Formats: sequence, structure tokens, C-alpha cells
Amino acid sequence: MPYGTPATTGGLTKAITTLTLRKMKQEGIKFATVALYDAPMAAMAKKTGVEVLLVGDSLGMTVLGYDSTVPVTMEQMIYHVEAVKRGNDKSLIMGDMPFMTYATPEQALTNATRIMQAGAHMVKLEGGAWLVDTVQMLSDRGIPVCAHLGLTPQSVNKLGGFRVQGRDDAKANEILEDAMALDAAGADLLVLECVPSTLAKKITDAVSMPTIGIGAGTETDAQVLVINDILGLTEQPPKFSKNFLVEAKDIPGALEKYVNDVKTGVFPDAEHIFL
Ligand code: KIV
Repeated sequence: MPYGTPATTGGLTKAITTLTLRKMKQEGIKFATVALYDAPMAAMAKKTGVEVLLVGDSLGMTVLGYDSTVPVTMEQMIYHVEAVKRGNDKSLIMGDMPFMTYATPEQALTNATRIMQAGAHMVKLEGGAWLVDTVQMLSDRGIPVCAHLGLTPQSVNKLGGFRVQGRDDAKANEILEDAMALDAAGADLLVLECVPSTLAKKITDAVSMPTIGIGAGTETDAQVLVINDILGLTEQPPKFSKNFLVEAKDIPGALEKYVNDVKTGVFPDAEHIFL
């Protein structure tokens, strides 16, 4: 085959759906998520059993060289969702909605439709209670939503930096209440980023949707890491990330180890969590 067209056999044999993930939560089976952006990596993720692919707006920083996710556009997201979709027909594909493309429910509906039509099975939105009406609207119209709480990178300028969220009781309670409200509004997944492990556990126990942690301890229903961090491509990696290529002989080996370590609860260990 010319030009390294990604293989499409092996690994996951059944398509992963929102129901698969809810069942896994109920049965206490952890699932792996990777934020990635192109067809060959998506194909490798299928082969190594990664259940959920996030086409994250982190691509603004990891691929495009911006210093935050704020400049990322709808066109860039659509381009990368289409590429990931071409490489993988089994994992559940989640597409991030870029900064300020979901400021009102109507705007969210228009832009989420475009991400879904590019090949995503779900959209991801950053924010708390203010998104309840939007989540309800998208969900009622058949668009699954992943909520995102804790450190929400699109708000980095408001938060004053990429920092752990929910360390004091007031903020922890606010995040817990936001999670419960978004769950009730119909969200299907929840990313918890950079929150203390105890808070992530409390939220995971309180909501019916599966939770996916990144810097959120061991007790979430799943973990997510960015592919650049898994492969040691990040110059100053965040505390919660791990270079899995160090203990593997090649890229598929690193992804396999990540999936295995998530499923067995080996990752994250004490070194990669916040208390
Ligand atoms: O954009 C992204 O990749 C994300 C993950 C880090 C959760 O939102």
C-alpha cells in the first residue's frame, strides 16, 4: 500500500458506544482514552484497544504550536476529526468544541452538528452550570456530550494559569454540584482535569455517567492522556503525564502499556496524582 495508509484490522472488534462505556462503569471495568489527532495514530489506537479517542483542542498546543487552546478554530477541529475518523472505525470518537463556539445553546447546536458530521460520535464542552441548558438541548436532539470540569484550559486566562482546581471546600463543592447538574441534563461522559483524587472519587460515585480523569487520581472510571505525552514528545511534561515509550520498544508497545496500566489500575501511580 502506498504512503503508509493505516491498517484497519485487529484490536477492537466491536464499535464502542455510549452504552458500552456506561456498562463498563457499572461493571467496574476501566477504559482508556487518548487525545490524538491523525489517522495513523487512530489506527494504532484501534489495534491496541483504546476505547475512546479524543480529538482534543490540545492540538493547538501539541501540533500547531500555539501557547494555549484559545486560537483553535472549527475548521482545524473538523480537519482533524475527519483524519481520525478515517483511521479508526471502532473507537468512540469525541470532538472538542473550540473556544467560544458554544457560548449560547443555538451556537452550540450549529457547531456541534458540524463536528458530528465530520465523523465524531460525541462533542466535548468545557464548563459547569452555565452549560446545563446547552447539554440538555444537544442531548435531546441526539448529540451525545462529554462535559469537562476542573482545569478547563480554554479558560486559562480567567483561571490565571494551568493549575489544580478544587483544593478548597467551596470550589470542590461547586465542581461536584456542576457535575451532578450536567449528569442530570443528559451528559454522557465527564472529563475531570487536575482535581484532587478525593474530589474525583466523590464525583465518580455521585454521577451515572462515566468519568475520565487526567491528573484526577486513580478512582475515575477511565483515564485520558495526550499522545504527545505518552510518547515523550513534550519538552516540559505536566506532573500527571507519563512517557510510556521509556518502558516499551516501539510506539505500539507504548500505547499497549498505557492501555494495560489504565485497565489494571497501575496508572496513575502516586507520582502522577494530586492530593
Ligand atoms: O484537548 C484535550 O486534549 C483535552 C484533554 C487533555 C482532556 O481536553
